Amino acid sequence: MLLFKDQTIVPAQFSKYPRMRFMGNKYKLIPWINKTLESVDYQSVLDPFSGSGTVSYYLKTLGKDVTSSDFLNFPNVITCALVENDNVIISNKSINKLITNNGELNFAYLTYKDIFYTYDDLKFIDSFWGNLNYITNRFEKSIAITALIRACAKRQPRGTFTVSDPTKYNDGRRDLTISIKEHFIEQCHEVNNAIFKAAGKCESIRKDVFNHKQYYDLVYLDPPYIPKENDNCYMKRYHFLEGVSCYWKGQDIMESSKVKKIAKPFTPFSYKKTAVQTFDKLFSHFSKSKIALSYSSNSIPSIEILESLMLKYKDKVTIHSKEYRYNFGNHTKAKINNAEEFLLIGE
Ligand SMILES: C[S@@+](CC[C@H](N)C(=O)[O-])C[C@H]1O[C@@H](n2cnc3c(N)ncnc32)[C@H](O)[C@@H]1O
Repeated sequence: MLLFKDQTIVPAQFSKYPRMRFMGNKYKLIPWINKTLESVDYQSVLDPFSGSGTVSYYLKTLGKDVTSSDFLNFPNVITCALVENDNVIISNKSINKLITNNGELNFAYLTYKDIFYTYDDLKFIDSFWGNLNYITNRFEKSIAITALIRACAKRQPRGTFTVSDPTKYNDGRRDLTISIKEHFIEQCHEVNNAIFKAAGKCESIRKDVFNHKQYYDLVYLDPPYIPKENDNCYMKRYHFLEGVSCYWKGQDIMESSKVKKIAKPFTPFSYKKTAVQTFDKLFSHFSKSKIALSYSSNSIPSIEILESLMLKYKDKVTIHSKEYRYNFGNHTKAKINNAEEFLLIGE
């Protein structure tokens, strides 16, 4: 067991989770979520907005039967490696093969030169994808791609891809000075170190939330809320990670955008016009399951609306809250907001 600063306890395995910068990730809130969920009885659990994968990984450490999912590809690759995968690690032989320069492909270099990274970094990404067929095991492949995703995120200032100026947020951190290849080798070992055998049955699937079956003992919901300022578009911030996770195969790149973004997939959670009815549909869809909904006070819809919507489908809704500091940032401003974090439990 692992004791956090606030005296809450989570399984020690959780300390091995390779933390990632991802908007709205719940890493720091895990001890509080852990304590809050203690009173809920469940074995099967769905995390359909998995994002960085931190909550799914934590649920796996508890021995739950975890279904981890997101509608983007890169979160799914990460949870395939870290949540569904029980015992496969990437070998040194595979790492050496993947870092060999082969000159076969050039898409990353041709598309992103003068936008992101150096010549060597982009050629490394091209070589990696040229070499990847060498790995046939699905989990070993997912570890390799996870290490590449993490390498690209670490090498990029603030881990987001909204602007192309590498000097803008360069504070000289080591992460910004070593190459993607060096990061990749480190990240293979970091991911290997986090892999463990689940006591429950875990799976990772890529799906829209409404395409999941409707019954799990518990559904943990952490959807994108509409912030009072700024926007909640994951593709705008992380399009490069989404692209690199599948070598941009089948992706619709917006040629007119300065940073060669991928077109964002529609999600009804992102628009004021559709948000309330979408939450109603969400609670209705999972009406047979217990629901734990994460919510931050800086968002739309309001907690009162969410509570009343949940009460349409649940006998009892309990609201737990915690003070929390969020870092919000975009390319014009970055600030810290004090927010109250809520967990609404509907049973
Ligand atoms: C707030 S983040 C989840 C953060 C996550 N709990 C963590 O700790 O990293 C919301 C996630 O919902 C995903 N998403 C948005 N709309 C979706 C939809 N309609 N179906 C499935 N996933 C969706 C986004 O890709 C994003 O990863």
